[in-house]
Amino acid sequence: MHFFTVLLSLFFFLFTTTTITHGHNITHILASHPSFSTFNHYLTLTHLAGEINRRTTITVCAVDNAAMSELLSKKPSISTIKNILSLHVLLDYFGTKKLHQIRDGSALAATMFQATGSAPGSSGFVNITDVKGGKVAFGPEVNEGNLDVFYVKSLEELPYNISVIQVSKVLPSDVAAAPTPEPSAMNITEIMSAHGCKVFADTLIANREASKTYQDNIDGGLTVFCPLDDPFKAFLPKFKNLTASGKESFLEFFGLPIYQSLAMLKSNNGIMNTLATDGQKKFDFTVQNDGEDVTLKTRSTTAKIVGTLIDEQPLAIYTIDKVLLPKELFKAAPTPAPAPAPEKEVADAPKSSKHKKPTADDSPSDSPADSPDDDPADQTADDNASVRFGGGRLIATVLSLCLGLLLL
Ligand SMILES: *[C@@H]1O[C@H](CO)[C@@H](O)[C@H](O)[C@H]1NC(C)=O
Ligand SMILES: *[C@@H]1O[C@H](CO)[C@@H](O)[C@H](O)[C@H]1NC(C)=O
Ligand SMILES: *[C@@H]1O[C@H](CO)[C@@H](O)[C@H](O)[C@H]1NC(C)=O
Ligand SMILES: *[C@@H]1O[C@H](CO)[C@@H](O)[C@H](O)[C@H]1NC(C)=O
Ligand SMILES: *[C@@H]1O[C@H](CO)[C@@H](O)[C@H](O)[C@H]1NC(C)=O
Ligand SMILES: *[C@@H]1O[C@H](CO)[C@@H](O)[C@H](O)[C@H]1NC(C)=O
Repeated sequence: MHFFTVLLSLFFFLFTTTTITHGHNITHILASHPSFSTFNHYLTLTHLAGEINRRTTITVCAVDNAAMSELLSKKPSISTIKNILSLHVLLDYFGTKKLHQIRDGSALAATMFQATGSAPGSSGFVNITDVKGGKVAFGPEVNEGNLDVFYVKSLEELPYNISVIQVSKVLPSDVAAAPTPEPSAMNITEIMSAHGCKVFADTLIANREASKTYQDNIDGGLTVFCPLDDPFKAFLPKFKNLTASGKESFLEFFGLPIYQSLAMLKSNNGIMNTLATDGQKKFDFTVQNDGEDVTLKTRSTTAKIVGTLIDEQPLAIYTIDKVLLPKELFKAAPTPAPAPAPEKEVADAPKSSKHKKPTADDSPSDSPADSPDDDPADQTADDNASVRFGGGRLIATVLSLCLGLLLL
């Protein structure tokens, strides 16, 4: 029935919500409205704030602290809260004027909940209707025609980037409010096995230590990049050649001890610590955008994210098209190392919850793929943060010297 309207809204959201990186800051906007501090806090906690700041032509339907307390009293999980709040971000601009002048008195708006793909059918759409008496009512499209949430007031309008309005209460949606499974109850290897990463999953299951590290990190935030079956199968002989500690570090290298949505990875380019990172053993890689793709790089390999198996805060699992090789275990192909551009350090990545004691067989030289005479030039080029930043400073100095000469 509403198929055409749905199509139209989808069309609109595809073409009007361009993603940008500058402009409004929802956290900042709501900070000047203390009675919305809880809503604001949860936008940050669910990482929706970043998504909102990246988009234009949107409307945020905020609810006050009392309405948020009612929602929180049901003790929903963080990913359920994320689903509910994302239903409150409309992917179209509705200022006060437009709300009161809706054509034909009623409209359907796609929401960020729809855009996440977690919303089945049209459950991610919100019906906005100009009801009698000049009131504007809101209700999830799938809600038996109940429109019992009302427009209260405008909080901020930056036409046509973002409109922040207050609505009377939280939009009632059984779909968005459905409990999501406890993260630690999720079987990550099962998710991987069912979606093209069975070889990696089986290898992980067979390694008790690495499995435990993954499991222990789920609740606090975990992002996994699992290599697809074909590349990982081809790699197995080399994996079997690693020492016990090499195997464990290698498997843990594919997990980050933090939650990262794809959008966060796109905007947080830089060096990432992994579950294998432990003091001297860096086992890190660089996240870098390549057009619309997100790539992971080490000295010798570049893998591309090709799929999302799950993205439910605090857990995200992506598939990658190649087996990423940590430089601690695999020597780079003997190509002359170009000086890498200064990289941005991801400063706020917390350490994994695991603290391994260094053991004798942990030293990098006992790994068959490594050798103690690892190219020292490479070491200074990308193994040492201080040298890296020193390099950046050197470039800056050279540049400013050139500039100085030009000015003379
Ligand atoms: C809307 O966003 C654009 C692009 O970021 C920006 O240049 C413009 O100043 C913004 N307008 C308002 C009213 O904030
Ligand atoms: C947005 O505003 C908040 C509060 O003013 C600030 O802490 C945060 O750094 C800002 N975010 C961005 C991306 O500028
Ligand atoms: C919104 O809901 C009202 C009440 O159920 C309904 O009459 C109207 O057709 C809906 N509007 C749209 C655009 O679906
Ligand atoms: C996860 O599922 C696999 C089968 O895919 C099973 O072997 C394993 O024991 C399960 N792990 C947990 C922690 O339940
Ligand atoms: C495994 O290690 C041995 C001894 O270092 C080496 O000869 C062999 O080529 C390695 N195999 C693979 C598949 O890397
Ligand atoms: C890395 O930096 C530390 C501290 O500045 C220094 O002691 C060490 O020698 C450097 N290592 C390399 C390989 O340059």
